[in-house]
Amino acid sequence: MGKRVSLTQYLVEQQRMHGHIPAQLRLLIEVVARACKRIAISVNKGALGDVLGSAGTENVQGEVQKKLDVICNEVLIEANEWGGHLAAMASEEMDGIYLVPNRFPQGEYLLMFDPLDGSSNIDVNVSIGTIFSVLKKDDAHAGVSEQDFLQPGSKQAAAGYCIYGPQTTLVLTVGDGVAMFTLDREQGSWVLTQDGVTIPEDTREFAINMSNMRHWAPPVKRYIDECLAGKDGPRGKDFNMRWIASMVADVHRILTRGGIFMYPWDKREPDKPGKLRLMYEANPMSFIVEQAGGAATNGHQRILDIQPTKLHERVSVILGSKNEVERVTAYHRDS
Ligand code: AHG
Ligand code: MN
Ligand code: MN
Repeated sequence: MGKRVSLTQYLVEQQRMHGHIPAQLRLLIEVVARACKRIAISVNKGALGDVLGSAGTENVQGEVQKKLDVICNEVLIEANEWGGHLAAMASEEMDGIYLVPNRFPQGEYLLMFDPLDGSSNIDVNVSIGTIFSVLKKDDAHAGVSEQDFLQPGSKQAAAGYCIYGPQTTLVLTVGDGVAMFTLDREQGSWVLTQDGVTIPEDTREFAINMSNMRHWAPPVKRYIDECLAGKDGPRGKDFNMRWIASMVADVHRILTRGGIFMYPWDKREPDKPGKLRLMYEANPMSFIVEQAGGAATNGHQRILDIQPTKLHERVSVILGSKNEVERVTAYHRDS
Protein backbone atom coordinates (compact mmCIF):
# COMPACT_ATOMS: atom_id res chain seq x y z
CA MET A 1 0.00 0.00 0.00
CA GLY A 2 1.29 3.47 -0.92
CA LYS A 3 1.21 6.66 1.12
CA ARG A 4 -1.86 6.98 3.33
CA VAL A 5 -3.98 10.05 2.73
CA SER A 6 -6.28 11.09 5.58
CA LEU A 7 -9.62 12.83 5.13
CA THR A 8 -8.11 16.10 6.43
CA GLN A 9 -5.22 15.89 4.00
CA TYR A 10 -7.58 15.11 1.13
CA LEU A 11 -9.72 18.15 1.92
CA VAL A 12 -6.73 20.47 2.29
CA GLU A 13 -5.27 19.25 -1.00
CA GLN A 14 -8.62 19.63 -2.80
CA GLN A 15 -8.80 23.21 -1.55
CA ARG A 16 -5.24 23.93 -2.74
CA MET A 17 -5.78 22.38 -6.17
CA HIS A 18 -9.33 23.46 -6.96
CA GLY A 19 -10.19 26.04 -4.30
CA HIS A 20 -13.73 24.80 -3.68
CA ILE A 21 -13.54 23.79 -0.02
CA PRO A 22 -13.57 26.92 2.14
CA ALA A 23 -12.58 26.53 5.80
CA GLN A 24 -16.20 26.37 7.08
CA LEU A 25 -17.08 23.61 4.64
CA ARG A 26 -13.97 21.65 5.56
CA LEU A 27 -14.84 21.94 9.23
CA LEU A 28 -18.40 20.83 8.48
CA ILE A 29 -17.27 17.72 6.61
CA GLU A 30 -14.76 16.82 9.31
CA VAL A 31 -17.34 17.27 12.05
CA VAL A 32 -19.86 15.08 10.22
CA ALA A 33 -17.17 12.46 9.66
CA ARG A 34 -16.32 12.52 13.37
CA ALA A 35 -19.98 12.13 14.28
CA CYS A 36 -20.15 9.12 11.94
CA LYS A 37 -17.27 7.57 13.88
CA ARG A 38 -19.29 7.92 17.08
CA ILE A 39 -22.33 6.44 15.37
CA ALA A 40 -20.22 3.54 14.07
CA ILE A 41 -19.20 2.75 17.65
CA SER A 42 -22.84 2.70 18.85
CA VAL A 43 -23.93 0.63 15.87
CA ASN A 44 -21.18 -1.92 16.50
CA LYS A 45 -22.07 -2.27 20.18
CA GLY A 46 -25.60 -3.35 19.27
CA ALA A 47 -27.27 -5.25 22.11
CA LEU A 48 -24.24 -4.61 24.36
CA GLY A 49 -24.88 -0.88 24.13
CA ASP A 50 -28.66 -1.27 24.54
CA VAL A 51 -29.20 0.53 21.22
CA LEU A 52 -31.43 -2.00 19.46
CA GLY A 53 -35.20 -1.94 19.20
CA SER A 54 -37.84 0.74 19.02
CA ALA A 55 -37.73 4.12 20.75
CA GLY A 56 -41.51 4.00 21.11
CA THR A 57 -41.96 7.31 19.29
CA GLU A 58 -43.01 8.40 15.80
CA ASN A 59 -41.33 10.90 13.49
CA VAL A 60 -43.10 13.65 11.52
CA GLN A 61 -43.73 11.23 8.64
CA GLY A 62 -45.54 8.79 10.91
CA GLU A 63 -42.75 6.21 10.96
CA VAL A 64 -41.90 4.41 14.20
CA GLN A 65 -38.48 5.57 15.37
CA LYS A 66 -35.81 3.07 16.36
CA LYS A 67 -33.56 3.89 19.31
CA LEU A 68 -30.67 4.36 16.88
CA ASP A 69 -32.66 6.81 14.72
CA VAL A 70 -32.97 9.04 17.77
CA ILE A 71 -29.40 8.49 19.04
CA CYS A 72 -27.83 9.23 15.64
CA ASN A 73 -29.93 12.36 15.23
CA GLU A 74 -28.69 13.62 18.60
CA VAL A 75 -25.07 12.78 17.83
CA LEU A 76 -25.21 14.77 14.58
CA ILE A 77 -26.89 17.77 16.20
CA GLU A 78 -24.52 17.85 19.16
CA ALA A 79 -21.45 17.52 16.96
CA ASN A 80 -22.50 20.26 14.55
CA GLU A 81 -24.21 22.97 16.56
CA TRP A 82 -21.22 24.67 18.18
CA GLY A 83 -18.58 24.91 15.42
CA GLY A 84 -19.77 28.15 13.83
CA HIS A 85 -20.03 26.58 10.37
CA LEU A 86 -23.82 26.19 10.28
CA ALA A 87 -26.87 28.41 10.11
CA ALA A 88 -29.31 25.53 10.66
CA MET A 89 -29.92 21.81 10.28
CA ALA A 90 -32.82 19.66 9.11
CA SER A 91 -33.34 15.96 9.56
CA GLU A 92 -35.69 13.19 8.58
CA GLU A 93 -36.26 12.66 12.31
CA MET A 94 -37.20 16.24 13.27
CA ASP A 95 -40.45 18.07 12.51
CA GLY A 96 -38.97 21.44 11.60
CA ILE A 97 -35.56 22.97 11.06
CA TYR A 98 -33.06 23.11 13.94
CA LEU A 99 -31.57 26.56 14.42
CA VAL A 100 -28.07 26.87 15.82
CA PRO A 101 -28.59 28.07 19.43
CA ASN A 102 -27.88 31.76 20.02
CA ARG A 103 -24.94 31.07 22.29
CA PHE A 104 -22.98 29.76 19.31
CA PRO A 105 -21.74 31.69 16.26
CA GLN A 106 -23.77 31.30 13.07
CA GLY A 107 -22.17 29.99 9.90
CA GLU A 108 -23.20 30.07 6.27
CA TYR A 109 -24.08 26.43 5.61
CA LEU A 110 -27.24 24.37 5.95
CA LEU A 111 -26.90 20.70 6.84
CA MET A 112 -29.54 18.07 6.11
CA PHE A 113 -29.36 14.43 7.10
CA ASP A 114 -30.95 11.05 7.29
CA PRO A 115 -29.22 10.13 10.56
CA LEU A 116 -29.81 6.42 10.18
CA ASP A 117 -30.81 5.00 6.83
CA GLY A 118 -32.09 1.45 6.64
CA SER A 119 -33.71 1.42 10.09
CA SER A 120 -35.47 -1.90 9.41
CA ASN A 121 -32.01 -3.50 9.15
CA ILE A 122 -30.63 -2.35 12.51
CA ASP A 123 -31.95 -5.19 14.62
CA VAL A 124 -31.11 -7.85 12.03
CA ASN A 125 -27.45 -6.80 11.77
CA VAL A 126 -27.48 -5.77 8.11
CA SER A 127 -25.65 -2.71 6.71
CA ILE A 128 -27.11 0.69 7.55
CA GLY A 129 -25.83 4.23 7.09
CA THR A 130 -25.96 8.00 7.55
CA ILE A 131 -26.68 10.29 4.59
CA PHE A 132 -25.96 14.03 4.51
CA SER A 133 -26.37 17.00 2.18
CA VAL A 134 -24.93 20.51 2.42
CA LEU A 135 -26.37 23.73 1.00
CA LYS A 136 -25.16 27.27 1.32
CA LYS A 137 -27.57 29.75 2.80
CA ASP A 138 -28.39 32.64 0.53
CA ASP A 139 -26.67 35.45 2.44
CA ALA A 140 -28.90 38.19 1.02
CA HIS A 141 -31.05 38.19 4.16
CA ALA A 142 -30.59 37.83 7.90
CA GLY A 143 -32.02 34.93 9.89
CA VAL A 144 -32.87 31.50 8.60
CA SER A 145 -36.14 29.74 7.86
CA GLU A 146 -37.36 26.58 6.17
CA GLN A 147 -37.47 28.57 2.93
CA ASP A 148 -33.65 28.73 2.90
CA PHE A 149 -33.53 24.94 2.61
CA LEU A 150 -35.80 24.79 -0.43
CA GLN A 151 -33.05 24.85 -3.04
CA PRO A 152 -32.69 22.30 -5.85
CA GLY A 153 -30.12 19.54 -5.33
CA SER A 154 -27.91 21.04 -8.05
CA LYS A 155 -27.02 23.73 -5.50
CA GLN A 156 -25.47 21.25 -3.02
CA ALA A 157 -21.97 22.23 -1.92
CA ALA A 158 -21.24 18.72 -0.70
CA ALA A 159 -22.97 15.43 -0.05
CA GLY A 160 -21.98 12.10 1.36
CA TYR A 161 -22.89 9.03 3.29
CA CYS A 162 -21.28 6.70 5.76
CA ILE A 163 -22.03 3.00 5.52
CA TYR A 164 -21.80 0.86 8.65
CA GLY A 165 -21.15 -2.54 7.13
CA PRO A 166 -18.33 -5.11 7.19
CA GLN A 167 -16.19 -1.98 6.79
CA THR A 168 -17.16 1.53 7.83
CA THR A 169 -16.80 3.67 4.71
CA LEU A 170 -17.36 7.37 4.16
CA VAL A 171 -18.25 8.41 0.62
CA LEU A 172 -17.96 12.06 -0.27
CA THR A 173 -18.41 14.52 -3.09
CA VAL A 174 -17.73 18.23 -3.10
CA GLY A 175 -18.67 18.47 -6.77
CA ASP A 176 -15.38 17.23 -8.14
CA GLY A 177 -15.79 13.47 -8.34
CA VAL A 178 -16.39 10.94 -5.60
CA ALA A 179 -13.90 9.74 -2.99
CA MET A 180 -14.16 6.89 -0.49
CA PHE A 181 -12.52 6.74 2.92
CA THR A 182 -12.30 3.63 5.09
CA LEU A 183 -12.30 3.95 8.87
CA ASP A 184 -9.07 2.64 10.36
CA ARG A 185 -10.29 1.65 13.81
CA GLU A 186 -6.85 1.22 15.36
CA GLN A 187 -5.80 4.73 14.31
CA GLY A 188 -9.28 6.20 14.61
CA SER A 189 -8.83 7.91 11.25
CA TRP A 190 -10.46 8.03 7.82
CA VAL A 191 -8.07 6.83 5.12
CA LEU A 192 -8.62 7.56 1.42
CA THR A 193 -9.13 4.16 -0.21
CA GLN A 194 -10.63 5.15 -3.56
CA ASP A 195 -10.72 8.36 -5.55
CA GLY A 196 -12.44 9.15 -8.85
CA VAL A 197 -15.11 6.50 -8.26
CA THR A 198 -17.01 5.70 -11.48
CA ILE A 199 -20.21 3.77 -12.09
CA PRO A 200 -20.16 1.57 -15.21
CA GLU A 201 -22.65 2.91 -17.77
CA ASP A 202 -24.20 -0.51 -18.36
CA THR A 203 -25.37 -3.09 -15.89
CA ARG A 204 -27.16 -6.40 -15.54
CA GLU A 205 -28.26 -5.83 -11.96
CA PHE A 206 -31.37 -4.08 -10.67
CA ALA A 207 -32.59 -3.20 -7.17
CA ILE A 208 -36.27 -2.71 -6.47
CA ASN A 209 -38.72 -3.95 -3.86
CA MET A 210 -40.51 -6.56 -6.00
CA SER A 211 -43.29 -7.02 -3.46
CA ASN A 212 -44.75 -3.74 -4.74
CA MET A 213 -44.89 -4.93 -8.35
CA ARG A 214 -48.68 -4.96 -8.66
CA HIS A 215 -48.79 -1.29 -7.66
CA TRP A 216 -46.16 0.01 -10.12
CA ALA A 217 -46.80 2.38 -13.02
CA PRO A 218 -46.63 0.77 -16.52
CA PRO A 219 -43.11 2.09 -17.45
CA VAL A 220 -41.55 0.57 -14.33
CA LYS A 221 -43.44 -2.69 -14.87
CA ARG A 222 -42.28 -2.78 -18.48
CA TYR A 223 -38.62 -2.25 -17.54
CA ILE A 224 -38.60 -4.94 -14.85
CA ASP A 225 -40.59 -7.40 -17.01
CA GLU A 226 -37.94 -7.01 -19.71
CA CYS A 227 -35.15 -7.61 -17.19
CA LEU A 228 -36.93 -10.70 -15.87
CA ALA A 229 -37.40 -12.07 -19.39
CA GLY A 230 -33.58 -12.22 -19.56
CA LYS A 231 -31.88 -13.82 -22.57
CA ASP A 232 -35.24 -14.76 -24.11
CA GLY A 233 -36.67 -11.24 -23.88
CA PRO A 234 -36.08 -7.96 -25.76
CA ARG A 235 -32.92 -7.20 -23.73
CA GLY A 236 -31.25 -10.44 -24.83
CA LYS A 237 -29.36 -10.86 -21.56
CA ASP A 238 -29.99 -12.16 -18.06
CA PHE A 239 -30.31 -9.77 -15.13
CA ASN A 240 -29.54 -10.27 -11.45
CA MET A 241 -31.47 -8.71 -8.57
CA ARG A 242 -30.53 -7.28 -5.16
CA TRP A 243 -32.63 -5.44 -2.56
CA ILE A 244 -31.01 -4.63 0.77
CA ALA A 245 -33.68 -2.18 2.03
CA SER A 246 -30.94 0.25 3.07
CA MET A 247 -30.54 2.82 0.32
CA VAL A 248 -26.94 3.45 1.43
CA ALA A 249 -26.06 -0.21 0.96
CA ASP A 250 -27.79 -0.46 -2.43
CA VAL A 251 -26.14 2.77 -3.63
CA HIS A 252 -22.78 1.64 -2.30
CA ARG A 253 -22.99 -1.55 -4.34
CA ILE A 254 -23.91 0.49 -7.42
CA LEU A 255 -20.91 2.79 -6.91
CA THR A 256 -18.73 -0.28 -6.60
CA ARG A 257 -19.93 -2.45 -9.48
CA GLY A 258 -22.79 -0.65 -11.22
CA GLY A 259 -26.51 -1.31 -11.16
CA ILE A 260 -29.84 0.47 -11.12
CA PHE A 261 -31.82 1.34 -7.99
CA MET A 262 -35.50 2.25 -8.06
CA TYR A 263 -38.00 3.27 -5.46
CA PRO A 264 -40.68 4.50 -7.85
CA TRP A 265 -44.03 6.12 -7.29
CA ASP A 266 -46.76 3.49 -6.93
CA LYS A 267 -50.53 3.24 -6.68
CA ARG A 268 -50.68 2.40 -2.97
CA GLU A 269 -50.75 6.09 -2.09
CA PRO A 270 -51.26 7.86 -5.43
CA ASP A 271 -50.93 11.35 -3.95
CA LYS A 272 -47.51 10.60 -2.48
CA PRO A 273 -44.76 11.14 -5.10
CA GLY A 274 -42.67 8.30 -3.66
CA LYS A 275 -41.32 6.82 -0.43
CA LEU A 276 -37.87 8.33 -0.30
CA ARG A 277 -37.16 11.83 0.87
CA LEU A 278 -35.86 14.43 -1.57
CA MET A 279 -33.74 16.46 0.83
CA TYR A 280 -32.22 13.73 3.00
CA GLU A 281 -31.93 10.78 0.61
CA ALA A 282 -32.59 11.48 -3.08
CA ASN A 283 -30.62 14.73 -3.50
CA PRO A 284 -27.41 13.69 -1.77
CA MET A 285 -27.41 10.26 -3.43
CA SER A 286 -28.18 11.76 -6.85
CA PHE A 287 -25.31 14.23 -6.47
CA ILE A 288 -22.91 11.39 -5.60
CA VAL A 289 -24.19 9.15 -8.40
CA GLU A 290 -23.93 11.91 -11.02
CA GLN A 291 -20.45 12.81 -9.81
CA ALA A 292 -19.51 9.17 -10.39
CA GLY A 293 -20.81 9.31 -13.97
CA GLY A 294 -24.24 7.81 -13.27
CA ALA A 295 -27.69 9.36 -13.61
CA ALA A 296 -30.68 10.01 -11.34
CA THR A 297 -34.25 10.92 -12.32
CA ASN A 298 -37.76 10.67 -10.95
CA GLY A 299 -38.85 9.18 -14.29
CA HIS A 300 -39.62 12.59 -15.72
CA GLN A 301 -36.81 14.92 -14.76
CA ARG A 302 -33.34 15.00 -13.28
CA ILE A 303 -33.70 14.77 -9.50
CA LEU A 304 -31.11 17.52 -8.95
CA ASP A 305 -33.31 19.94 -10.96
CA ILE A 306 -36.41 19.49 -8.79
CA GLN A 307 -37.41 22.67 -6.98
CA PRO A 308 -38.47 21.49 -3.49
CA THR A 309 -41.67 22.92 -2.08
CA LYS A 310 -41.39 21.54 1.45
CA LEU A 311 -38.73 20.17 3.75
CA HIS A 312 -40.02 16.61 4.06
CA GLU A 313 -40.92 16.28 0.37
CA ARG A 314 -40.95 12.76 -1.07
CA VAL A 315 -39.86 11.75 -4.53
CA SER A 316 -39.77 8.82 -6.92
CA VAL A 317 -36.16 7.66 -7.40
CA ILE A 318 -34.42 5.93 -10.31
CA LEU A 319 -30.63 6.07 -10.13
CA GLY A 320 -27.41 4.31 -11.05
CA SER A 321 -25.82 3.14 -14.30
CA LYS A 322 -26.48 5.83 -16.87
CA ASN A 323 -27.81 3.80 -19.81
CA GLU A 324 -30.32 1.91 -17.68
CA VAL A 325 -31.59 5.06 -15.94
CA GLU A 326 -31.99 6.69 -19.35
CA ARG A 327 -33.93 3.64 -20.57
CA VAL A 328 -36.40 3.71 -17.66
CA THR A 329 -36.80 7.48 -18.07
CA ALA A 330 -37.46 7.03 -21.80
CA TYR A 331 -40.14 4.41 -20.98
CA HIS A 332 -41.85 7.06 -18.82
CA ARG A 333 -41.68 9.53 -21.69
CA ASP A 334 -43.19 7.00 -24.11
CA SER A 335 -46.13 6.12 -21.91
P1 AHG B 1 -35.10 4.95 6.56
O1 AHG B 1 -34.59 3.77 7.30
O2 AHG B 1 -34.19 6.14 6.68
O3 AHG B 1 -36.55 5.27 6.83
O4 AHG B 1 -34.99 4.65 4.99
C1 AHG B 1 -35.40 3.40 4.48
C2 AHG B 1 -35.57 3.53 3.01
C3 AHG B 1 -34.36 3.17 2.18
O5 AHG B 1 -33.15 3.12 2.84
C4 AHG B 1 -34.69 1.84 1.58
O6 AHG B 1 -34.23 1.76 0.27
C5 AHG B 1 -36.19 1.76 1.64
O7 AHG B 1 -36.60 2.65 2.63
C6 AHG B 1 -36.69 0.38 1.95
O8 AHG B 1 -38.05 0.38 1.87
P2 AHG B 1 -38.94 -0.97 1.88
O9 AHG B 1 -38.90 -1.47 3.28
O10 AHG B 1 -40.29 -0.49 1.45
O11 AHG B 1 -38.31 -1.93 0.90
MN1 MN C 1 -33.40 6.60 4.80
MN1 MN D 1 -33.63 7.24 8.47
